[in-house]
Amino acid sequence: MSEENKDNGKNGKSVGLVTRLIEGIKDVLESLKTDLPAKAKEQVELLKRPTKTQVFTSIFRHKHDDTPRNRALGVLSNVFLHLHPAKINRDAVRYSYTWGMGGITFYLFIVLTLTGVLLMFYYHPSKVQAFRDVLYLEHDVPFGKLLRNMHRWAAHLMVIAVELHMFRVFLTGSYKKPREFNWNVGVILLVLTLLLSFTGYLLPDDQLVFWAVTVGTNMARATPLLGHEGPFGAQLGMTPYNDVRFGLLGGSIVDANALLRSYIWHCIGIPIIASIFMILHFWRVRKDGGISGPAAVVLDSEVKEAKK
Ligand code: HEM
Repeated sequence: MSEENKDNGKNGKSVGLVTRLIEGIKDVLESLKTDLPAKAKEQVELLKRPTKTQVFTSIFRHKHDDTPRNRALGVLSNVFLHLHPAKINRDAVRYSYTWGMGGITFYLFIVLTLTGVLLMFYYHPSKVQAFRDVLYLEHDVPFGKLLRNMHRWAAHLMVIAVELHMFRVFLTGSYKKPREFNWNVGVILLVLTLLLSFTGYLLPDDQLVFWAVTVGTNMARATPLLGHEGPFGAQLGMTPYNDVRFGLLGGSIVDANALLRSYIWHCIGIPIIASIFMILHFWRVRKDGGISGPAAVVLDSEVKEAKK
């Protein structure tokens, strides 16, 4: 065995990597034997008081004692009664901490909404017109090419920005208590962003799109329970004419109904749902005590004389 694979064991003797690994696994199993029943008991106890569980307290806010200070806090922390937070942690709003990615994602959503509404003036979601409208926008409409490309680039950037935002939230551990609920709202926003991107992709109705959507929606055939080729799908009576793929396409092939469904989801359904979740997301950032951290830096000049 090579030198680097050797280390001191518990009794001071040199032991190999495999031995250490086995010892490690034994330790984990041992601690599971003692900790697991205690943890399980704790969870069962908690189920008897559901309002005290972590899931419940992360979703619902708790009531505070009716004292003058708490009443003042109630006003200050209410978004409607006090739009701007009374206090913010200056280190938490630094770009080096947040990367500004949540804000940039929201900004891109606004750009997409504005350019999207303008594109709607020129686009018809029909098999005859759709691709012609795209060509018309590219070559004839004044600033049409700019408009279309602003929409396309903002869409690509939003997908990248939302992922970077999620990555920074993960790196700063901001998914932990008390922000678990907002992390879950974020996951829904991520899925909605990807769905917006996917449904928009279909709209130009060219060959590239046709085959991409054919492949994409074919995956839905294999959905467990709901797809006719998925596990237990056939047993539940799924066929190509009633499964989840049929629901997505409005038919068994990628055609006019699929285009119309994509258009409605893309321009109306998903943007409305995403806007509602964004409002919830921003409100919760405030309710969870503002952006997470790092710990506030207190200047020497701010420390009270008595404490010095
Ligand atoms: C449309 C998508 C999204 C928008 C517009 C958005 C926007 C924002 C904004 C503006 C903030 C304030 C702090 C900052 O800018 O970093 C924030 C915080 C937060 N976001 Fe998002 N977000 C989105 C998606 C997500 C996703 C995908 C996740 C995670 C799965 C997530 C989880 C969080 C959490 C946990 C916080 C609190 C972070 C902290 O306190 O440090 N968000 N979001």
